[in-house]
Amino acid sequence: MFTKSTLIVLLGFLLSFVSFADEIEQGRQIYDKGILPNGEPLIGVGANDYNVVGKDAACANCHRYSGMGGVEGKTLMPPISANFLFASTKHPFAVTDPSHPMGITTKDHTYTDSTLANVISTGTNDKGRELTMVMPRYKLDKEAMSSLVAYLHQLSLTQSTGVVPGELHFATVFTPEVDEQTKQIVKTEIETFVIQHNDTMSNAQSHRSFGFDRLRINNYEWKFHFWELKGDPDTWESQLEDFNKQQAVFALVSGVSYQAADPVHEFCETHETPCLLRSELYASNNAGRYNLYFSKGLGLDANLFSTALKKSVIKKPSNVIQIFTPDSVGETVSKELSLKLKDQNIPDETIEFSEDDLSDISERFAKLGPDEIVFCWCEQADLDKLGTIHIPEQAKVYLSGSLLIMKSGAKELKDPWKNARVIYPFEIPSTRIKQLKSFYNWIVGHKFEASKEVIQSDVYFSMLILQEAVAQMVENLYKDYLVERVENIFGMDLQFWGSYARPGLSPAQRFANRSGYITKFDGQMFVPDSDRIIEE
Ligand code: HEC
Repeated sequence: MFTKSTLIVLLGFLLSFVSFADEIEQGRQIYDKGILPNGEPLIGVGANDYNVVGKDAACANCHRYSGMGGVEGKTLMPPISANFLFASTKHPFAVTDPSHPMGITTKDHTYTDSTLANVISTGTNDKGRELTMVMPRYKLDKEAMSSLVAYLHQLSLTQSTGVVPGELHFATVFTPEVDEQTKQIVKTEIETFVIQHNDTMSNAQSHRSFGFDRLRINNYEWKFHFWELKGDPDTWESQLEDFNKQQAVFALVSGVSYQAADPVHEFCETHETPCLLRSELYASNNAGRYNLYFSKGLGLDANLFSTALKKSVIKKPSNVIQIFTPDSVGETVSKELSLKLKDQNIPDETIEFSEDDLSDISERFAKLGPDEIVFCWCEQADLDKLGTIHIPEQAKVYLSGSLLIMKSGAKELKDPWKNARVIYPFEIPSTRIKQLKSFYNWIVGHKFEASKEVIQSDVYFSMLILQEAVAQMVENLYKDYLVERVENIFGMDLQFWGSYARPGLSPAQRFANRSGYITKFDGQMFVPDSDRIIEE
């Protein structure tokens, strides 16, 4: 039996626990969003008494969600996670940006709650130095300050799930429509990369490209798990949950989908787990913090085509005829394109093609007007099926590069499609070959065949970027920080650009690739038929 006083103590304990959780949540609202506990916007006073307000004042803008900081222009935003502000014994390293001379920081502060409150409100740090005015000054009431401080006490304090002593766990997701052969190619690439990585990491600390070998490189062995989804998309969420219960992972890396894989996207957002650089044929969702993609695929093809029309790179047609197979991603994206055409007052019609009866398409081609454009959302197999139709010499035909090049790995155009133009959301081959040099060296070195260059190079570069990111994190293995490192690495150097034309990521940009070309096939290779087009 509990005595009355034990119950009161127990209740008190529970209440304090609840209010502690509330306090941290309040602190998070200030830190991430610039919202004070009373619902008012956070206000910071910057240089020349200029106020920053609400979201613009949020700490995460500069110190990042992880609290691990970063570099903007030439300004170093120092790490302010728990280990950097309070720990008195450990001396963590943080790499905020290896390309910045001050981008490597070691902890040298030991704040108390009151010195911390002081630096946040007055700008005078624990050593009596007045901080630059890039760091706004925040006059907070007692409740707001104590919840912010409570939040900082636990921010990136312990390593994330998926990090276990000596091991870092990752998963690669395949959705069910992906063919066995592609899955196998991707798995073999990843397994090969991981073996090589683990081997190099365990016997050497000297392979760092950015010259700070003096730092302790983390020596975690990578473990990759392949999560192969089955059945209906409605059931993917619970399959992902089950996989994650068997072995929680630090991040989902690479992987292939030939349809929009929203449940995978959602899984990563709910579990606050990075989803890095999946090859998704039709990634439509750019909302969220944890999903970073090379490209949005088909949606980008549609945007590039409509941008080319808007900018008169392609002469405005009297009508666009979209061709696709029923219930395909082509059908979904054709609706997106219809809307964009409508905005430009360009009418369009659609034809679904079925293998048994190509007469509709043949007839439509036969009576094609001089100012009409045909846009075929076709992969190689579709073009083959349509191989017997007659396409008039002067017909203006456009094809989707994502379907043809990424999905099918096409390297040429055959009759009757020889004169078609391809919306090409990649770097053009003559330039791309330089960006893919390390990939081809690796492929050749392992006697692999590059049958699907885009997907295979996506896999390789996602692994290379992961390797760089994890090395930069040293012992600071937090999921938010991984996302932030990957955002930063893309811009660092063209050695990470892979198949794409000047890609980049930022807190506001979740699809690295935003541009492409119109290309034609010259009998040897795809060559540009336009300047580089940046999507609008
Ligand atoms: C506009 C960018 C920006 C925002 C927003 C910002 N900071 Fe800073 N912060 C900085 C910069 C830059 C410095 C380093 C200034 C210096 O060293 O002179 C800094 C320094 C600090 C320091 C001192 C760290 C150390 O190593 O001693 C703390 C603590 C801090 N910020 C906390 C916060 C908190 C909490 C918030 C949100 C309420 C916040 N900052 C919002 C840019 C920012």
